[in-house]
Amino acid sequence: KTEIIALDVNSIDMGKLGYCAEVIKSGGLVAFPTETVYGLGANALDGNAVSGIFEAKGRPGDNPLIVHVACKDSVNSLVAGIPYKASLMMDKLWPGPLTIIMEKSGIVPDAVTAGLNTVGVRMPAHPVALALIREAGVPVAAPSANTSGLPSPTIARHVIEDLQGKVHVIIDAGSAQVGLESTVVDMTSVPPAVLRPGGITLLQLEGLVGPVSIEPSDADGAKKDSVPKAPGMKYTHYSPRAKVIVVEGEVKHVAFKIKELAGEYKGRGIKAGILATRQTIDMYPFENVISMGDRDNPETIAARLFKVLREMDSMGVQVIISEAIDSAGIGLAVMNRMNKAAGYNIIRV
Ligand code: TXA
Ligand code: MG
Repeated sequence: KTEIIALDVNSIDMGKLGYCAEVIKSGGLVAFPTETVYGLGANALDGNAVSGIFEAKGRPGDNPLIVHVACKDSVNSLVAGIPYKASLMMDKLWPGPLTIIMEKSGIVPDAVTAGLNTVGVRMPAHPVALALIREAGVPVAAPSANTSGLPSPTIARHVIEDLQGKVHVIIDAGSAQVGLESTVVDMTSVPPAVLRPGGITLLQLEGLVGPVSIEPSDADGAKKDSVPKAPGMKYTHYSPRAKVIVVEGEVKHVAFKIKELAGEYKGRGIKAGILATRQTIDMYPFENVISMGDRDNPETIAARLFKVLREMDSMGVQVIISEAIDSAGIGLAVMNRMNKAAGYNIIRV
């Protein structure tokens, strides 16, 4: 029932793309690639179509969706007004992995915003996403195209695993380059508040608009009692089926501790997997060891994190022991997702 449509990023077949745009226009659900992760899109101005997204994902209705646009001008009709700093961000950081929250206008259905008086908008930097939105001629509401709670999809196969039979079209156009979701910044508060770290770093934001705030718990994903400002951040997230443990500290000590834990699991007959890095992978004389990427180039780890979590599941491991990485730059978003995947099960050495 679900159509899988392959598109070449470098030379998009406009016939096939036009068909996908028609599906969006007529109220259907289309999973499509963005530079961050795959999204599950519907016409953002059609409340019924948007409800279908929640159903397909099994997503709680109180978790608002991001509205995707293909050009800055399309934002005007979606919001009550554009604060100066928000327009600066749009000029310098769009298209890109940045979602900007502003006061919403009357045309945005409640289903999109979960009844909030604000709306998050983003212009993605992926040729297929941009062409799809442009051809559909409507803003496109889209959460990550995973079953609610599972790691976000970075390749079409992940989307097929989760949403086959539940959506009308899945576009396959290769892998999402960034690998982690957009940074969500709330421009209705002063200073701007980062509600979810992501593909755009705090330094990039501050270089542009001055100080921004971030709750320590929003930064590292740690649990706290108060109500999260991005409703989505309160739910269990990014969790593979396996239990995840994060080991944090100086790299040498981390590797030593992980070896000790893996040895213990092995002794107890429990199938454990290790998420290592290029720098440490040779230190583990065990099966089921995968490198997430290069510590000196955390973008490589961001790009692979969700993929390796899913890989561990398909290998059938019961416990995933993961090295923490430095939380500078995009490392902040990596650790936010990793700690959430672990349910804050973090060992400090
Ligand atoms: O990179 C991304 O952002 C991907 C791609 C597909 O664009 N989308 C994505 O959407 O990650 P989703 O729904 O998985 O995550 C959206 C996050 C949630 O934590 C949600 O609560 C928050 O943004 N959010 C959306 N609208 C909001 C609003 N008006 N106020 C506060 N938080 C909002
Ligand atoms: Mg999501």
